[in-house]
Amino acid sequence: MSRVLVENIGLLVTNDSTFDGTPLGIIHDAGLLIENDLVTWVGSSSNAPRHDVSNSIDALGRCVIPGFVDSHSHLVFAGDRSAEFRARMQGENYSAGGINYTVELTRRATTGDLLQSARRLVAEAVTSGTTTIECKSGYGLTVDDESRSLAIAKQLTSETTFLGAHVVPAEFKSDPEGYVDLVCGPMLDAALPNAKWIDVFCDKGAFTSEQARRILKAGMAKGLLPRLHANQLEPGEGVLLGVELDAASVDHVSHLSDADIAALAGSKTVATLLPSAEFSTRSAYPDARRLFEAGVTVALASDCNPGSSYTTNIPFVIALAVRDLHFSPEQALWSATAGGAQALRRTDVGHLGIGACADFSILSSPSYIHLAYRPGVQLIDEVWRHGLRIK
Ligand code: NIG
Ligand code: FE
Repeated sequence: MSRVLVENIGLLVTNDSTFDGTPLGIIHDAGLLIENDLVTWVGSSSNAPRHDVSNSIDALGRCVIPGFVDSHSHLVFAGDRSAEFRARMQGENYSAGGINYTVELTRRATTGDLLQSARRLVAEAVTSGTTTIECKSGYGLTVDDESRSLAIAKQLTSETTFLGAHVVPAEFKSDPEGYVDLVCGPMLDAALPNAKWIDVFCDKGAFTSEQARRILKAGMAKGLLPRLHANQLEPGEGVLLGVELDAASVDHVSHLSDADIAALAGSKTVATLLPSAEFSTRSAYPDARRLFEAGVTVALASDCNPGSSYTTNIPFVIALAVRDLHFSPEQALWSATAGGAQALRRTDVGHLGIGACADFSILSSPSYIHLAYRPGVQLIDEVWRHGLRIK
């Protein structure tokens, strides 16, 4: 058995509110004991158990935080859309239409190239402190290409999501209902072995709420768990549908009515905000303050994809959330860790309480506030996952 004691932590964020009565559960001058892949003791450095510790790490007064839980990403794709981004920065609007360009390139790519590129993105995410990542299909949009994307995703993470309903592919342009039939039938069956979640892009230019309900229900009937891209491009029924189906999360939610917020507040469904998508599409951010005031659980994630948000960097997302969406630094850190875990209905990650997975980062700074205060600066010194140092 391995026993590692991390001592001399200047500020430890546990996300276990029993330590200080706040959601971040902060302990100053802290220690953290890891046995194999789990946290088995947390407390003041001076009380740390020392017997039989095979290894002790001096955190040198730095800040330690739970690993980021990135609950929304699209990592299996080929090529990029830098030209589209460039045009957008000159005034073009973002629309779902660009997805089909990535679909074409993804279908043509070899499985080896897709896997290598997705692995590179996961490695990039780890470098910026992400220890759990969800990954969607959605750039294949044929039975074989969706099933291949999910087989690739499954090699990267257990949080895999079938997003055959990303957009209607070009060959079904005149028969969207025929495509929905395909998604609910053979494509879903081919996705099942490698998918845990089912997602639909319910929005302008993608799928209606009626189509989304049908697709999500078909997936749920076969054991997949629902989540949803909702209300990104315009107001709609997506959020209410997510709550109706007890989706773990509704994501983007840039356009929210009072009824949407009230429904979320009375549910277990998390609102996952993806501000790097609004940043990269130059569109209006969601009103996070209304969500917080209503008591809705909020997560932050990267939405890494080649169209609307080509970043894996959660510290950047935190900086946007604090600077532009008016999160406090505490709300932003919680949402990118514990909030992400709730959006994946996980209790083993996103915190550093006793029994948690030993997934954490050691920052180069004395406080997590620096994640927003020093934007664009690499502050993640070390990353540990399942009790092992991976950066
Ligand atoms: O979450 N909104 C739908 N899907 C992605 C964008 C995909 C793309 O543009 O390639 C998103 O933002
Ligand atoms: Fe997305």
